[in-house]
Amino acid sequence: MECERFTPGSGRLDPRAALRSDAPSLDLNGTWRFRLSPVATVSESFADPGYDDTGWDDLPVPSHWPLHGHGAPAYTNVSYPFPVDPPHVPTENPTGDYRRAFDLPDGWSGGRLRFEGVESYAKVWLNGHELGFTTGSRLPAEFDAGPWLKPGRNVLAVRVHQWSAASYLEDQDQWWLPGIFRDVTLTRSAADVFVRASYEEGRGTLSFDGDGALDVPELGITGLGPGERVTVGAEPWSAETPRLYEAVLRAPGETVRLRVGFRTVSIEDGVLLVNGRPLLLKGVNRHEFHPEHGRAVSYETMREDVLLMKRHNVNAVRTSHYPPHPAFLDLCDELGLWVIDECDLETHGFGQVGWRRNPSDDPRWEEACLDRMRRMVERDKNHPSVIMWSLGNEAGVGRNLGAMADWARERDPSRPIHYEGDRSCEHTDVYSRMYASHAEVEAIGRGAEDPLDDPELDARRRAMPFLQCEYAHAMGNGPGGLAEYQELFERYPRLAGGFIWEWIDHGLAHPALGYAYGGDYGEPVHDGNFVVDGLVFPGRTPSPGLLDLKKVFEPVAFTFSEGSVTIRSKYGFRDLSHLAFSGEVEAEGVPLGSFPLEVPAEGGEVKLPVFPEGEGERWLTVRASLARDEPWADAGHEVAWAQVPLDTDGTPYTGPDDLRAVPRRADGPAHRRDAASAAHGAEIEVGGAVFDGATGRLTRLFGLDVEGPRLELWRAPIDNDRYDGTEFRWRLLGLHRLTHRVDAVEPGDALTVRTRVAPAATDLGMRATYTWTASGDALDLRVDIVPEGDWPEPIPRLGLALTLPSVPRAVTWYGLGPGEAYPDTGMATWVGRWTSTVEGMQTPYVYPQENGHRAAVRWAELAGIRITGAPVFGLTVRPWSTAALDAAAHRPDLVPDGRLHLTLDLAQHGIGSAACGPATLARYELRARPATFRLRFEPS
Ligand code: GAL
Repeated sequence: MECERFTPGSGRLDPRAALRSDAPSLDLNGTWRFRLSPVATVSESFADPGYDDTGWDDLPVPSHWPLHGHGAPAYTNVSYPFPVDPPHVPTENPTGDYRRAFDLPDGWSGGRLRFEGVESYAKVWLNGHELGFTTGSRLPAEFDAGPWLKPGRNVLAVRVHQWSAASYLEDQDQWWLPGIFRDVTLTRSAADVFVRASYEEGRGTLSFDGDGALDVPELGITGLGPGERVTVGAEPWSAETPRLYEAVLRAPGETVRLRVGFRTVSIEDGVLLVNGRPLLLKGVNRHEFHPEHGRAVSYETMREDVLLMKRHNVNAVRTSHYPPHPAFLDLCDELGLWVIDECDLETHGFGQVGWRRNPSDDPRWEEACLDRMRRMVERDKNHPSVIMWSLGNEAGVGRNLGAMADWARERDPSRPIHYEGDRSCEHTDVYSRMYASHAEVEAIGRGAEDPLDDPELDARRRAMPFLQCEYAHAMGNGPGGLAEYQELFERYPRLAGGFIWEWIDHGLAHPALGYAYGGDYGEPVHDGNFVVDGLVFPGRTPSPGLLDLKKVFEPVAFTFSEGSVTIRSKYGFRDLSHLAFSGEVEAEGVPLGSFPLEVPAEGGEVKLPVFPEGEGERWLTVRASLARDEPWADAGHEVAWAQVPLDTDGTPYTGPDDLRAVPRRADGPAHRRDAASAAHGAEIEVGGAVFDGATGRLTRLFGLDVEGPRLELWRAPIDNDRYDGTEFRWRLLGLHRLTHRVDAVEPGDALTVRTRVAPAATDLGMRATYTWTASGDALDLRVDIVPEGDWPEPIPRLGLALTLPSVPRAVTWYGLGPGEAYPDTGMATWVGRWTSTVEGMQTPYVYPQENGHRAAVRWAELAGIRITGAPVFGLTVRPWSTAALDAAAHRPDLVPDGRLHLTLDLAQHGIGSAACGPATLARYELRARPATFRLRFEPS
C-alpha cells in the first residue's frame, strides 16, 4: 500500500518560513466536494478534472470529516487503535476524497499549493496531474503547481487516508480526527528568510539568511544584506513586554513583512536565562481544540486562548504535542507568551509492546523524523516567542531523536533543545520531566537528584536547568498541590518552572451527552474521559483550577506586617509601574471603605491607614490591577491580590493561624440552653425541631420535612480518586454504603442520639453521637465522632448529609468564595459574603464528580434556615444526591430530584493530581480520627 511507506512525502518543495508576503495568493478554503470510502483502495479516477462528483457531499475545508457526519471520532491515549505492525495499517482505512474547482485570476502564473495541515496522509492532483503526497499532519507542505495551472478553471483533487505509516508517529493523547483541517492556499510567494535578532547589554543585533534586503524603519535600518550584521539600541522582546519591530524584506518578486523581536536565550550555571535574566515558566500545555471543530481552530479561538492565558497570569505555552496553526505563534509574539514549540512526533504506543520496533530508533524512519523537525524549525524560526524546540513527546529513545537534535542545533544554535522522553538528556539542553512529585522536584532543585549510571551524562544533566514539561494534571476537580510546586519553582534557581497538563478539556459537543469523551462513539479501544483534563471547560469557560492557577502564578507578592504591606515584584522583565494598587476593608463581608495605595515601581513597604471599627470579622483585601489598557486586557483587570484579617486595633493581624479557615471567633455562637426536649408520644420536640422518638431521627426542622443530618463519609469520586485506585479501595471498604444503627435515644436536658455508622462486612465503624439542644429559636447540634478499628485509608469526607424539601432560589453564605475550595485547592477564593443559586453552586465538570464545596463557611442561609458553624463548616448544596452524582457519567444524567441535598462538612480529603501524577500531599489527607462538629440551625 502506498500509504504504508516510511518515506514522509514526495514532490514537495523545501520547507520555508510562514511569512506575510504581498505576493498574490488564493484562499482555497471553503466548500469542497467530498466522498468517504471505508478502504484506501478505491479508484483514483476522481482526480480527473472531468469526473462527475454530483453524487458527493459538501464538506468545509478546513475541518475533520468525522465532525461533519462522516464516520466518527475515536479517542485513545497511549494505545494505537490498530495492531502495532509498522508500517502497516488496517485494510479498513477511512479515505476521504476531496475535490475543489477554482478560477485562476487573469494574468496569474506559477505558484505553490500550500497545505497547512492534513491528517494523516494526503495525495494531491492538480488538473489530473499527480503532484505528490505528504504526511506530517500538523506541518505544512507545499507543491509546485506552476507547470499544471491553467487560465480559468482548475481542478484540485486530494485523497486523504486516515491511517498511514505516519500514524505510527502521531500517537498523541487526543481524538483521532482525519481531514484537511488547516488552510489551503495557492500562493505565488516563494521567499524564505531566517531573521536572527539577539539582545545583549541593552542592544539588539540583527542579521538574516535569505535573498533580498531588509529594512527596519523604526530602527533606521535600511538595505541590510544577507549575512550582514547590525547592532542598534533596541528594546528587548519578552513575554512580559512583547516589543516587536516591523521589518520589511525586499525579496526577489515580493515584499515580505515580518515582526522582529530581539531576545537571547541562554543557559548559564544551570539556569535558564532570557536577555541575561532568569526565566520562570508559568506555563500550560495547549492542544488545539474546539468542541465542535476539533483541531480546526479559528483565529478567534486561538486569540481567545492567548487572551485567557494572559488574563490568568500564564506566561508560557508548550505546543503539546505538535506545532500549532502558524497564526497562534503570531499571537504569542504579539501578546507575549514564551513558547516551547514541539515537533509532531509521538510513538507512545510502542511502550505497550516493550518499545520493540519503535520508530525513534529505526533507521528506516530517520527521514520521516528529520522531515518533521525540519518543517517545524523552518516554518517557525522567525518567532521571538519560540524559545525552545522540542523533539516531540513520549517517543522513547533512539538515534532518530539524536539526528533531529543535531540537525536543529546546526540550523538554529540560538534555541535550546527539549525532549522529556529520554531521562539521560543525551540529546537535549534542558532536563525535563513530567509529573515529578514535589519531593523529587525539590531534590532536583537542590541538585540532589538520583544519579544516572553514566557519569558523563550525569554530569551533563546536573548542569542543566530543569523544567516540568507536564505537571498538575488538571483532570476534573483540581489540580491540588499547585501552590506547593510554585513555591519550589520560586525557591531554586535551577528550576525554570513548568507547564500544567493541560489547557482545555477535549469534550466534543454531543446532542445527547452534553460533551462526549472516549467510548461515546462506540470505539472498541478507548481511554474514556482521560481526554477531558483541562483548565478550561470545552466551551472555554475557566474551571476553578484555572482561577487557582491565576492566583498561584501572580506576578506580585504581598506581605503584611503591623501597619504596612510590603509589595514584591515577581516580574522578570518589567517593573510595577503598569499597575494600580488599592485596598478595601469589609466587616462580615460588608464594605467599610476603600483606598488607593501608592506603590513604588520597584515595590517596597507601604504604610496602611488605620481602619474604623466594624462589627465582626474585618478583612483587608489589597489588589493590583492594570493601570492602563494592555493589548490583552483592559485597565482595571486584576492581576494579583491578597487578604488579611484585621486586629481589633485595625492593623493587619500577623499571628500564626490561618484565619481564612479558622477565624478567631472560634467558639462560635453563644450557647444558651433554653428548653429541655419534650417527649410527646412517638415524637420528641427540641426547640423548632421534631424527632422520631424511636429512631432519634430529625423529621421536621422549623416546619420543613427533612432527612438527616447523618454522618456522611462518601464523596462522588473525583478523577484523581478514580484513576489511582483510591476509589476502588474506598468501595471495597464500603464507604459508599454506610449503615446507621441507632443505639440510644436519650431525651432530657438535651436530646442525645447515639449511633454506630459502619459499612457491611467490616468491623470498622464510627461512633457518632448527636446532641441536640434548643437555644432560643435556634437549635444547636453537636456531633462527636469516634472511629473504631484500624482505618487503613484516608477517607473521602467527614460530614453530615441533610436533605430539605425544596430547592431555594438563592443561597447566601459568609466564608470562602465565590468558587469551590478543597484542602489543597481554592487559592482563588477569599473571605466574603456571597450569594448564588443552587445551579450556580455546581461546577460543571464534564465527567460528574464531587464539586462545588464552599469552604470555611461561617454561616449560610438557604430555604429559610440559617446554619452557623463553630467556627466554620464546608458546604455543598445540590439538587441531586451524592449517589446520583456518583452514578452519573455525563452532565445530562444529573436531573434535579425535587429536594435540596446539603452536605455540611467538617473536613474533606485533599484533591491532589493522582489521575496522572502524585497523590494528595500527606498534609491534606483526611484520616479517620475522633472529631467534634458543632452547628447551629435557626430560622433565617
Ligand atoms: C502524559 C502525556 C500527555 C497526556 C498526559 C495525561 O504522559 O504526555 O499527552 O497523555 O500524560 O493526560
